[in-house]
Amino acid sequence: MKERAREARAENRVIGLVPTMGALHRGHLELIERAKRDCSPVIASIFVNPKQFGPNEDFSKYPRTFESDSEKLQQAGVDALFAPEAAEIYPAGFSAYVNVEGLSERLEGRSRPGHFRGVATVVMKFLQIVQPHFAYFGRKDAQQSKIIMQMARDLNLDTEIVVCPIVREPDGLALSSRNAYLNAEERHAATVLHRALEAARNELAAGVRDALQLQAVLHRVLGAERFARVDYAEIVDAKTFEPVTRVGKPCYVVLAVFVGKTRLIDNLYIEPKEASSDDLEIRF
Ligand code: PAJ
Repeated sequence: MKERAREARAENRVIGLVPTMGALHRGHLELIERAKRDCSPVIASIFVNPKQFGPNEDFSKYPRTFESDSEKLQQAGVDALFAPEAAEIYPAGFSAYVNVEGLSERLEGRSRPGHFRGVATVVMKFLQIVQPHFAYFGRKDAQQSKIIMQMARDLNLDTEIVVCPIVREPDGLALSSRNAYLNAEERHAATVLHRALEAARNELAAGVRDALQLQAVLHRVLGAERFARVDYAEIVDAKTFEPVTRVGKPCYVVLAVFVGKTRLIDNLYIEPKEASSDDLEIRF
C-alpha cells in the first residue's frame, strides 16, 4: 500500500482515503463518491479494528461481508482497496498509541473507555501508510470526526480531513453497519432516535434555547419507545463536546440509545441563527 501510494504521489496525483470497517452501506458509498469528486486515486480501507472495541463489545460478531463489500467498491469506482490483517497492523510488541485528550473522554468515550484511543491510533496508522491529501469521514460519528480533525491539527498531518453529511433511510434512521443486528420490531423502534432529534429541531425552530428544556423533549420522545433505553441524550458544544446550558453557539444534539441489545448513535448539528460568525468556522 505504501508503495502504491508513493507512486501516485510521485505522479503528482491527489490521493483520497476512505477508512471503513466494512459491511458497506450507502453512507460509506457517499464518502467514496465525494472522494471521487476531489481525488484520483481513491483508496478505501476495510479493517475491523480490534483496538477500538471494548472487551464486552461486538468485535467478534461485527458484520464481515468482504466479498460483497469489494464488489460494491469496484462498482463505485474505487482505485484500490486496502484490507490488511490485524497481525500486520498490530504486530507482536505493538505499543505506540495516539490519544486525543479531553475530547476522547466524553460521551462515546465515557460509555466506551479506550474506544477513541483505538480509533485515533488506527486512523493515524492508515494516514501514515497512505499519506493521502484528503481523508473522508461521516458526521454520523460527529465526535469521532472531531477527534480526527484535532489529531490532524495537533500532530501536523498533511492530510485534510473532510467531514460529510449523515445518510439516512427514508424513515430517518441513520445508516449504520450495526442496523443489521435489529429484528423487525427493533428496526421499527430504531426510528425513535431520528424522531427525538426532529422534536428537538422543532423546539429550536420555535425559539427554545434552554438545554434542559431540549433534553426533556428528547427524553419524552425516547421514553415513549418501549424497546429503547437511553445511554445519553445531550446538547453539547460543537467544538469541545462539553454540555451546554444554553444553545447560543453551534452545538450538537447527541444521542446514544440501546434498541434491544443494539447500541445506536445519531446526532443533529444546530447552528442558532444568532451565533456570531466567529463560531461558524466549525461548519463541515
Ligand atoms: P465505520 O463505522 O465503517 O464508518 C466508516 C465511515 O463511514 C466513518 O467515517 C463513518 O462516520 C461513516 N459513516 C457511517 N455511517 C454513515 C452514515 N449514515 N452517513 C454518513 N457517514 C457514515 O467509523 C469507523 O468505521 C471506524 O471507527 C474507522 C474510522 C474506520 C476507524 O476504524
